[in-house]
Amino acid sequence: MIHQECINCKATYGIDEIIYFCKKCGDILEVKFDGNELAEAAKTSAWKTKPLSVWRYRPFMPIHESTKLVTLSEGGTGLHCSPRLGEELGLKNLYVKNEGENPTGSFKDRGMTVGVTKAVELGARHVICASTGNTSASLAAYAARAGIRCTVLIPSGKIAYGKLSQAMIHGAKVLQVKGNFDEALEFVLKLAEKHKDIYLLNSINPFRIEGQKSLGYEICEQLDYEVPDRIVIPVGNAGNISAAWKGLKEFYELGFIKKLPKMTGIQAEGSAPIAQAIKAGSDKIVPVEHPETIATAIRIGAPVSWKKAVNAIRESKGTAETVTDEEILDAQKTLARIEGIFVEPASASSIAGLKKLIKNGTIGKDERVVCITTGHGLKDPDTAIKQSEKPLEVDAEISAIESALGLKNKQVILAR
Ligand code: F0G
Repeated sequence: MIHQECINCKATYGIDEIIYFCKKCGDILEVKFDGNELAEAAKTSAWKTKPLSVWRYRPFMPIHESTKLVTLSEGGTGLHCSPRLGEELGLKNLYVKNEGENPTGSFKDRGMTVGVTKAVELGARHVICASTGNTSASLAAYAARAGIRCTVLIPSGKIAYGKLSQAMIHGAKVLQVKGNFDEALEFVLKLAEKHKDIYLLNSINPFRIEGQKSLGYEICEQLDYEVPDRIVIPVGNAGNISAAWKGLKEFYELGFIKKLPKMTGIQAEGSAPIAQAIKAGSDKIVPVEHPETIATAIRIGAPVSWKKAVNAIRESKGTAETVTDEEILDAQKTLARIEGIFVEPASASSIAGLKKLIKNGTIGKDERVVCITTGHGLKDPDTAIKQSEKPLEVDAEISAIESALGLKNKQVILAR
């Protein structure tokens, strides 16, 4: 039977129980499929005839058959072969999986379509999350789609404008907490504990992770089941790397793929407890009390899913790296200019980390690498504008435009 299971003591709970932490040891939970459940689902359903999307994998999701889905068409994002960026970084085989192509512009939609569908299935009428921006934008949209109440707690002054505008226009109640993300998360955990009718949709919620595991499935399918050597992914609260790994492992256990990629997590230097633990060979993280980075989406000091992430990295023989704000901004610009893919700073950390790991010899030039970019560049237009050439204001005359472009003032015939 599909159930929720504690990642530590393996205590089990039903999939219709509203629970976020193990009642026995207090650790976090994951959804588990028993024995041949997934294999049976893979064999008997017509999932392969459905378009590439989160719900193509409906038989692999812990949602009852009769439940109506809350969806905006998520997943099915492009896996872009990126030879020019590869050449720049010294890599022969590079793909960018651009999660900014999801309906609200980030990978969070994969988790929210499943999470909000589950919320409605459980009878919840009020959903909540703490967020550095994208989770709140996504939850607000899906709650609107479902017609239920939504509250989001964000760190005051530290979220990008695009994301804030999304949460606001979708009608969520937005509370700006005078504190950082980790503090906001503490508050929503307490609220969900105290007010049982409020359903929590941070990535601690294992049903969100189920939606996000489709990222791993899709990469396999888009590469015709020829698994890459490595997946490089930005890490904040550590839900996404854990989810992608869960999806990959399920496909491996189903026999769809013959090997597993090395999971490689990238964190911003000022907010890097997981990368520090991996580098130190430690089994525990040391939370960062005052996390800082220009990549506000991953400005997180105490990632709630750190154990799952450390496990994914270790089990897959991957690694973790930190990148500076300068390296992040440089990678954001390079990706936009040589591959035409505009991502927000946190997303670009995967590209920056890849560059660093190739340079220091950790990643070999012959490796086939998939880099995940997690959120669209329009989420944070201010940062993009700040680091680009300002538009030139010109008089409304052809000669002024020609002169600004360095063109000669005479007609040029194109020779064919
Ligand atoms: N990239 C972007 C653009 C994000 O918004 C986030 C997380 C991450 C990467 C990290 O993913 O937390 O699963 O490791 N944003 C969350 C939010 C925390 O509230 O929007 P993770």
